[in-house]
Amino acid sequence: MKAVGLFQYLPIEDEKSLQDLEVEMPMATGRDVLVKVKAISVNPVDSKIRAPKDKVEVQPKILGWDAAGEVAAIGSEVEHFVVGDSVFYAGDVTRPGANCEYHLVDERIVGKKPDSLSFSEAAALPLTSITAWESLFDRMGISSQGEDEGKSVLIIGGAGGVGSIAIQLAARLAKLNVIATASRDESRDWCIKFGANQVINHANALDDELKNIGVAEVDYILCLNNTDAHWQAMVNAIKPQGVICSVVETVKANLGMLKSKSVTFVWEFMFTRAMYQTPDMIEQQHILNAVSKCVDNGELMTTLNHVKQPINAKNLRRVHADIEQGNVVGKVVLESW
Ligand SMILES: NC(=O)c1ccc[n+]([C@@H]2O[C@H](COP(=O)([O-])OP(=O)(O)OC[C@H]3O[C@@H](n4cnc5c(N)ncnc54)[C@H](OP(=O)(O)O)[C@@H]3O)[C@@H](O)[C@H]2O)c1
Repeated sequence: MKAVGLFQYLPIEDEKSLQDLEVEMPMATGRDVLVKVKAISVNPVDSKIRAPKDKVEVQPKILGWDAAGEVAAIGSEVEHFVVGDSVFYAGDVTRPGANCEYHLVDERIVGKKPDSLSFSEAAALPLTSITAWESLFDRMGISSQGEDEGKSVLIIGGAGGVGSIAIQLAARLAKLNVIATASRDESRDWCIKFGANQVINHANALDDELKNIGVAEVDYILCLNNTDAHWQAMVNAIKPQGVICSVVETVKANLGMLKSKSVTFVWEFMFTRAMYQTPDMIEQQHILNAVSKCVDNGELMTTLNHVKQPINAKNLRRVHADIEQGNVVGKVVLESW
């Protein structure tokens, strides 16, 4: 089968950084489903894993943790899917990614594709939706049923892949007042389209930006970009007893700065459940199915912005390069082999 992968970790301008390959088709066993991949999306995790280093792989390293496709075979213990089902999922970063024609994934982290979306529209959603859902509802404890209606959330990095769905979940499901950040007209308009009540510019001091829109403090902050750079502003902006969640690594955030306000700081890493095979791993199937339902009933929209064809190394290198620039709006999806 066709796949895109790497042996060496090289700058994205190097043609060998991602290569077109022929690899053996895997077989479904246990709780795995074998998915015929129709569309994939790219996330910053792909380029972080692909970042240049000396390591050399003997077997090709296949990236890609966002896919939509059709179930082509199932393992003997699979309970929730049958051959022919249309699915979408992010997968498990400890296993090969979905940049291949047929891909194995544990059924517990797979959801039913929204009926109202094409495979490409669906492939834009899984990784970012799981991240945003787990951040807001599982980690920060915000009610997905609107019981925190009227409280405020600051979403730093609102127009990116995660921000685009986080704004929708916060505004439409949780009914929060959403303040998102964006630095350009295009990204600002995107945040408003997805439901942000106000947009401030993360290229300026966030304290000043909040003051300019008349907001003194917020109940929740979801940090989707550069935790270290935004740390002081988050410490200043969070309400006493509020909650801050970050999905982006830090080397210098000082938790002591949150003590006097008794602020809770939580991490979100969307691969935790699969990576550690936690007993509640199937929650990711439930999250994807809930997202699917909300899309089909019109509460949520796909965050797809661009589609490229076909799925090959050249197109994937272009998307990695764009992601590395740091100003992608919504999601870019690749479809067809
Ligand atoms: N822990 C997890 O489970 C998890 C899961 C998913 C993603 N992540 C991480 O979360 C981050 C965001 O992911 P993503 O998929 O949303 O990325 P993305 O789509 O590439 O994000 C691009 C967005 O970042 C914004 N941005 C650029 N510089 C910024 C800054 N200094 N402050 C705030 N926003 C800024 C840009 O807005 P403008 O163009 O308006 O500047 C752009 O819209 C990445 O680091 C990713 O690795 C972590």
